[in-house]
Amino acid sequence: MLKPALIVLSGAIAIFSTGIQAATPAAKLHQQSCTSCHGSEVYTRPNHRIQGKPQLLKQVRRCTMAAGAKWFDDEIKSVADYLDSHYYHFSK
Ligand code: HEC
Repeated sequence: MLKPALIVLSGAIAIFSTGIQAATPAAKLHQQSCTSCHGSEVYTRPNHRIQGKPQLLKQVRRCTMAAGAKWFDDEIKSVADYLDSHYYHFSK
């Protein structure tokens, strides 16, 4: 009875590969450059400083400089979008 084992195995592979695809470039960029000084708690604290999308974009740009990361504008924008959709929810 090899079949059930194969089905389980292919299911596990499917879940595994979806996991990899779910790691968007923005999430990866954020993970690589943005987690050394602060975690996501600065985005979600009740008195977080960022109050709008344009301000968020500016802050992400400022923090890439602090992080010494050389990101393209579209990368800065994609991480700002990522933070917006995961934490700030400005563009509901
Ligand atoms: C060199 C340290 C450092 C790194 C690296 C860093 N940050 Fe920051 N970040 C800060 C500091 C300091 C603050 C201000 C915290 C405060 O106001 O208490 C901040 C605040 C922020 C805020 C505003 C939080 C709020 O109050 O709403 C955002 C958004 C942010 N960072 C995004 C990023 C992103 C995106 C990256 C990756 C490019 C990043 N940070 C990497 C130091 C850093």
